Amino acid sequence: MRRILIAGNWKMHKGVGEAVELVDELLSIFSSPPSCEVAVMPPFTALHPVAGRLKGSFVKLGAQNVYWEDQGAFTGEISPSMLREIGCHYAIVGHSERRHIFGEPDQWVAKKAVALQKVGIIPIICVGERLEEREAGDAEGVVASQLEGSTQGVSWDPETLPVIAYEPVWAIGTGKTATPEIAQEMHVFIRGWLSENEGDGVASRVRILYGGSVKPENARGLLAQRDIDGALVGGASLKAQSFAGIIREGEDL
Ligand code: PGA
Repeated sequence: MRRILIAGNWKMHKGVGEAVELVDELLSIFSSPPSCEVAVMPPFTALHPVAGRLKGSFVKLGAQNVYWEDQGAFTGEISPSMLREIGCHYAIVGHSERRHIFGEPDQWVAKKAVALQKVGIIPIICVGERLEEREAGDAEGVVASQLEGSTQGVSWDPETLPVIAYEPVWAIGTGKTATPEIAQEMHVFIRGWLSENEGDGVASRVRILYGGSVKPENARGLLAQRDIDGALVGGASLKAQSFAGIIREGEDL
């Protein structure tokens, strides 16, 4: 049984004051914990104050990125143990913005995922094709090669079982959501890849999130698909009401 996970990727939004306000408002909307799992990924500067607000609540904390070394002369980077110290449960790796704006290759994504697992943080490994790749009929080929490269050395043990996020680049921040059918088709492909490479047991346990313009209005159709186990939400996670709306759509599935 895979529990639905609704994760909010705030990207480079919200200073400390706004971040604390947003989680306070989110928590105030729920008088009891929802049946699905919920996580928020604020920018690094807001992680610690937000962690304080989330203590004892149903919302888990995640980071948007990490470096794979534990400490040292790596100016500007943040290590897995630093994230663990402040209570991060998840960290996103290989988001398409990291891949395409900052040129991160699959090998880095894999190294980051492995380093996170070593300190007990669950990596959310993102994959997804660009529009031209989909139009060229290459969407599955691109995703398969990202999966292959981004999971080198990754552990599939239950304690830090990775989460995969399928985020078609053409649907991120564009308002163009993949239809539930298109998303489901790729999720089936990803699960098939997992089954071939890691076995049926792993394939049936790994959660595969969909990301790309998820909103309260389209969330149910996506989340109701058999192989869609949650959502990685960007823009719509920046307002407590819309994020809460998506969480509600993820309940009782
Ligand atoms: P979006 O972003 O919901 O704003 O499209 C999703 C993501 O990039 O994780």
